[in-house]
Amino acid sequence: MDALMMTGPSQGTDRTEVREIETPRPGRGEVTIDVAYAGINFLDVMARRGDAGYAGAWPYAPGLEVSGTIREIGRDVTDLAVGQRVAAFTAGGGLADVVAVRAGFAVPVPDRVPSPVAAAAPLMLTTALLLLEDAAGFRPGQTVLVHSAGGGVGGAVAQLVPVLGGGLRIGTVGRPDKVVPALGNGYDRALVRDENLTQAVRAATGDAGVDIVLDPLGTTMLETDLAVTAPGGRIVLFGNAGGGEQAPLPPAGRLIGGNLAIGGFSVSRLWATAPRRASAGLRRVLGLLADGRPHLAVTEVGSLADAPAVHQMLAEGRGAGKYVVRLRG
Ligand SMILES: NC(=O)c1ccc[n+]([C@@H]2O[C@H](COP(=O)([O-])OP(=O)(O)OC[C@H]3O[C@@H](n4cnc5c(N)ncnc54)[C@H](OP(=O)(O)O)[C@@H]3O)[C@@H](O)[C@H]2O)c1
Repeated sequence: MDALMMTGPSQGTDRTEVREIETPRPGRGEVTIDVAYAGINFLDVMARRGDAGYAGAWPYAPGLEVSGTIREIGRDVTDLAVGQRVAAFTAGGGLADVVAVRAGFAVPVPDRVPSPVAAAAPLMLTTALLLLEDAAGFRPGQTVLVHSAGGGVGGAVAQLVPVLGGGLRIGTVGRPDKVVPALGNGYDRALVRDENLTQAVRAATGDAGVDIVLDPLGTTMLETDLAVTAPGGRIVLFGNAGGGEQAPLPPAGRLIGGNLAIGGFSVSRLWATAPRRASAGLRRVLGLLADGRPHLAVTEVGSLADAPAVHQMLAEGRGAGKYVVRLRG
C-alpha cells in the first residue's frame, strides 16, 4: 500500500515522498481502517520542520485524522465491525491507504455526515469544540478572540460558536490578504496582527475586552492577550505555530490581580492520556455535523502525491480553511 513518509526534518517538500510499505495488521485492541479521506493539519508541518515533540523518529508517517471503513479487527475489540464507517484519530500514519489505530480512537460516523467532512472531525473539529467547551468553558453570549482565524481550526471555532449559543467572534490574521478568508470562515471581525491590535480589539468590544482568547502562537501574543482579556476571562494556549522558544508565563500576582486564567490544550495529548474524553468530543462533533450544524466546507486534494504541496502552503501561511486528501470513496 501507499503511505506518505517524511524522511528527515525539512522546511520544504524535498524530504516528503509517497512510499510503498507493508499494509498494517491490527494488534490487540486495535483496528485497521481503509482510509477514504485523510485530514491535513498544521501539526504535520510542525513534525516536518522537526519541532520537538511531533515526529518521534525518522522516517515519520504524517496524518493524524481519517475517515474510512473498518478493514480488520484485532483481538479484544468488541464494539466495532468490519465494514463500519468510522472517523478516527490516528496518532500518525493517517496519510496512507490503510492505517492501524487503537479501537478507542475510532468512532462510528452517522449516515448523514459525508466522509470528506468526517475526516476533519477527529483532530480539527474536536480541537475546536473542546477548546471552546472544555478548555475555555464557553458560555452563550461570550466574546471569543481567535488567532490564526483564516485556517482550519480557526474556521471550525467560528462555525461552532453559533452552534453553542452564539457570541461575538473576533479573529486575527498574520497578513492583510487573510482578512477575507477569516471573514469567510464566519468571523464577525477579522483584524490583522499589527501594532494597533490591542486598540482594535478593545474598540470592537466597546472597551470591555474579550471573555476568551484561543491562541496557537506560542507566547508571542501573550502580552496582547492579557491586555485585551476582560476580568474573569480565560486565555487558552494551544500551539506554537512559529516554533520558537516560549517565554515564561506571567507571575501569579498578575493573574490574581487581573482576575485572569491561562490554560493549555493539546488534542493529541488528550487522545493519548484521556481517550474517553477525546472520543466523547469526537462523538459530539459527529452528532452536530449529522444535525447539519456546523456547516463545514473542506477542500479536497486529489491524491497523496499532492499532500506535500498543501503542507508547504500551510508552512508558508497560505492555507485557507481545511484540506483533506481523497484516498478512495
Ligand atoms: N493544541 C491542539 O490540540 C491543536 C490541534 C490542532 C491545531 N493546533 C494548532 O492550531 C493552529 C491552526 O492549525 P491548522 O491545522 O488549522 O492550520 P492553519 O491555521 O491552516 O495554519 C497555521 C496558521 O498559523 C499561522 N502562523 C503563525 N506563525 C506561523 C509560522 N511561523 N509559519 C506558518 N504559519 C504560521 C498562520 O496564520 P496567521 O498568520 O494568519 O495567524 C497559518 O495560516 C496551528 O498553530 C496548530 O499547531 C493545535
